[in-house]
Amino acid sequence: MKRELRGQSVIITGASRGIGRAIAFRLAAAGMKVGLLARDAAGLGEVCAGIRASGGVAEGLVCDLSELEGLPEALRILRESLGRVDCLINNAGVFLERPLMETGTGAWQEALALNLTAPFVCCRELMPHFVAHGGGRIINIASTAGSQGYLNQSAYCASKHGLLGMSKALAIEARPHGIKVSCISPGGVNTGFIKGTYLGARLEGQVMIEAEDVAESVVHVLEAPDNVEMPELVLRRFSSV
Ligand SMILES: NC(=O)c1ccc[n+]([C@@H]2O[C@H](COP(=O)([O-])OP(=O)(O)OC[C@H]3O[C@@H](n4cnc5c(N)ncnc54)[C@H](OP(=O)(O)O)[C@@H]3O)[C@@H](O)[C@H]2O)c1
Repeated sequence: MKRELRGQSVIITGASRGIGRAIAFRLAAAGMKVGLLARDAAGLGEVCAGIRASGGVAEGLVCDLSELEGLPEALRILRESLGRVDCLINNAGVFLERPLMETGTGAWQEALALNLTAPFVCCRELMPHFVAHGGGRIINIASTAGSQGYLNQSAYCASKHGLLGMSKALAIEARPHGIKVSCISPGGVNTGFIKGTYLGARLEGQVMIEAEDVAESVVHVLEAPDNVEMPELVLRRFSSV
């Protein structure tokens, strides 16, 4: 039987646009209270206003997730304004397309900080809250780059492989507490994420996954009955031609 999402609360990172924005609207439409993090105050404000206009509950907090020291405090503020938090969606991410030989250590660290270390910090900070409440759901938005290599994406692939690995290990730790950890791994989603890159040019005009498709898969994972585990949901672009 599907789990009821209405009345639950969720924190979503990177919700000012793209996939995170679509997840925020979809989960709010399912009756969840949403707490949103991103840097763009205007984007966050627009998402929160849109959700509230439809009768939903949304709290936005401007936060640069790559500034890791400030992250626990940002999460604490958002958690307090939402009350109990039931789910965490680690979605914020950055794309880096550069030959390894030309990748500076700073650029490598920036990609790893946002795509891997920030989700680790968010999980670490919210796990005690989930344990105290006897359950919780964590969904990490990974990528097909989490299980395969792509040209000139060593840092991005490393970050997503890492995210997948962390999720698999955390799932084992979390299980005795009734907490489930899943990854959703899409390839080629129609957002601004890869605009202006070689990959973006290569996918131009091709069938893409829509942000709303990813949001729908988030609902599918969250609604899964307690006796079902979904470690990873892979979404590939499909075209019959
Ligand atoms: N699009 C794809 O083809 C694709 C495929 C597979 C996986 N993914 C994954 O899906 C996730 C979302 O991607 P998307 O396509 O929705 O990208 P997007 O449209 O570029 O959106 C990225 C989101 O992350 C936020 N963000 C970026 N840097 C941040 C920072 N330092 N601090 C806080 N928030 C930050 C952005 O908000 P602000 O700029 O306001 O901070 C924005 O809300 C990423 O993890 C990505 O790796 C995307």
